[in-house]
This record gives sequence, C-alpha cells and structure tokens, in this order.
Amino acid sequence: MIAGYPTTAQAANGKAADRFARDVLTGLSRHLKTLPSMYFYDEYGSRLFQQISELDEYYLTRVEGEILDGYGDEIARLVRARPLRLVEFGAGDGRKTGRLLRSLLEADLELEYVPIDICESVLVELTGSLRRQMPDGDFRVRGIVGDYFDAFSLLDPAAGRTMVLFLGSNIGNFEPRGAVAFLRAVRRSLVPGDWLLIGFDLKKDPAVLSRAYNDAQGVTREFNFNLLERINRELGGDFNRRRFRHEAPYNIALGRMESWLVSLVAQRVCVPGVGRSFAFARGEGIHVECSYKYAPAQIARLAAAAGFLVRASFFDRRRWFVDSLWEAAPGT
Ligand SMILES: C[S@@+](CC[C@H](N)C(=O)[O-])C[C@H]1O[C@@H](n2cnc3c(N)ncnc32)[C@H](O)[C@@H]1O
Repeated sequence: MIAGYPTTAQAANGKAADRFARDVLTGLSRHLKTLPSMYFYDEYGSRLFQQISELDEYYLTRVEGEILDGYGDEIARLVRARPLRLVEFGAGDGRKTGRLLRSLLEADLELEYVPIDICESVLVELTGSLRRQMPDGDFRVRGIVGDYFDAFSLLDPAAGRTMVLFLGSNIGNFEPRGAVAFLRAVRRSLVPGDWLLIGFDLKKDPAVLSRAYNDAQGVTREFNFNLLERINRELGGDFNRRRFRHEAPYNIALGRMESWLVSLVAQRVCVPGVGRSFAFARGEGIHVECSYKYAPAQIARLAAAAGFLVRASFFDRRRWFVDSLWEAAPGT
C-alpha cells in the first residue's frame, strides 16, 4: 500500500490531519458555511456508506452494478488492450469494480488495478479481498491512499494502455466548472487512445432522488452527522448533533441534490483544534455535499470540453444511470 502523502505513515497522517484542520477552519469561517464532502469518509463514514449502498432507496450502487454486470464483456471488447492498467479514483469498497475486473480477465486481458481512495481502511479491505479472490498471473493490485486531486503525480507512466474508472456518480459531487477542470486534469494524465469509464446519475423524478438521500432508517443522516462527530473526535470540537438537523432537498434549478446540516438554535461551537469558535444563527446551514444529476446532452458537452470522445454509453434498464466510456482525444 502506498501512502499518497509523504513517505512514512506518521508524516502522511500528520499532513492529512493538518489539511483537515485547515479545511474545517476555512469552510466554517465562510459567510455560507461549507465542509468538503471527502471528509465524510473516515473508517466509520466508509462503513456507513457501505450500508447506504445496500439500502433499497439508494438505487445508485445497485443500478450501476447492473450496468457493469450486463456490459462488462462489451467494455472488454472495446478496450481490448493487453496489458491494461486500471486506475480507479475514489474506489471505496470496489465491490462493483470487482465484477468488471472479472469480465476483463475472462476476456483474457492482463490487468494492473490501481485503486486510489482517501480512506485507508476501505482500501485495505478492498485490496485484501481482491488478492484473495482474483486468480494470480494476469492480475496485480496496488492501492494508493490519497486525495485523487494529488493522484496524477503518483502514477508512473504505464507500460500499456490506461483506463481510468470514476464510478458511483463521484463526478456529481463536483460543481460544473470543477468537473471540467478535474476531467481535463485526468485527460492530461492520459495519452490519446487511453480510456475513462465514468458513471453519471441521470435526471429523474425528484421523489426518487429525495428517497435515495433521505432513507427511512436514517443511515444517510448518520453519515452526514459523522462529519460533525469527526470534527469532535479529531479536532476536539463540541458540536452537539441534537442541535442540528440533516436536510437533503433537490434543487431543481441547479439539477442537484444538496446535503445540509442546519442549526436548530442560535449557538456557538468551539473547535480547539483550529483555535476558534463559530457562531451559528438559528436556521443557518452548513453545506456538506452536492450531487449533480446529468442529462445525456450535458454529458456529451462535458466530454468534449475535457478532451474526450464518447465511445459508448451503457444505461440500466430504467435509464436512471449511465456508465459512459470515453476515449482520450488526440491533440489535447
Ligand atoms: C460515493 S463513494 C463511491 C465509492 C465507489 N466508487 C462506488 O461507486 O461505490 C466515494 C468514495 O470516494 C472516496 N473519496 C471521496 N473524495 C475523495 C478524494 N478527494 N480523493 C480520494 N478519494 C475520495 C471516498 O473515500 C469513497 O470511498
């Protein structure tokens, strides 16, 4: 396992902790308070996300699994490179990806799989289970713990083709301009003919979306509150979750789900780890995540703006989700 941050585990943890403190200070000092959603995923948060992905209401993981099961052979046929390096950004527990890897191996491809994730525990679990399950010989796995914004510099040039995987609608967490900038950076790390397989959650009945982000068991609420608990655990904060409520509305104008933690009272919260306290008015929110929903035409524009050619689009049977296969265009 390679730590994405510097050489020793301690230095890596120290740097990540400094960055967390800096981002909390910056985000909570803003007029409109925000916290980056990547901090949901400590060990407990990743376990909660695994529970979310099994909920009936949270269709995203299920339908993308259906797509990868149904079209794995076709993806293998289109990509057809040996050896192939698969780099996955924000791999999580990689259960869906495991199914794709099997289809690629059955098509006689030789794979190096490089999952990158900010959460070390989930990567240890993923790489361990793949090493146990996958046949030796044509398969190697090398996990990298780190922020995928830093990942490009961590990847050495590949011997054969590279295919980047960005699944689970992770791209939905980017603001539109950030999405273009990020995908351009992905494109710059590839050579013409390399691939990107990217998952988009599509626009649909807002009632379906609302159920997915407001599940009946309250696992998503717990997942969101874990961010405040994490500030308490790691930075000595005194957030009292009973004084906040989780709200996840659909913003029709922007085409995105939003996650907020809303203060129920006027209060002051102290965070010794950043040396400050923060005042909240009653009804004031912390914006913790957005999940943009796409229309097919927006996806085509995004691919072109980032320097890719759309080679195939794989939908589930209800057309709720699409995994789009893009090829790095020449001359970008
Ligand atoms: C919504 S989950 C998706 C997991 C998996 N790809 C799936 O489709 O089920 C997002 C994953 O991305 C990781 N992640 C979020 N932001 C990240 C970042 N900036 N750098 C690296 N990993 C990140 C999280 O730890 C988490 O495992």
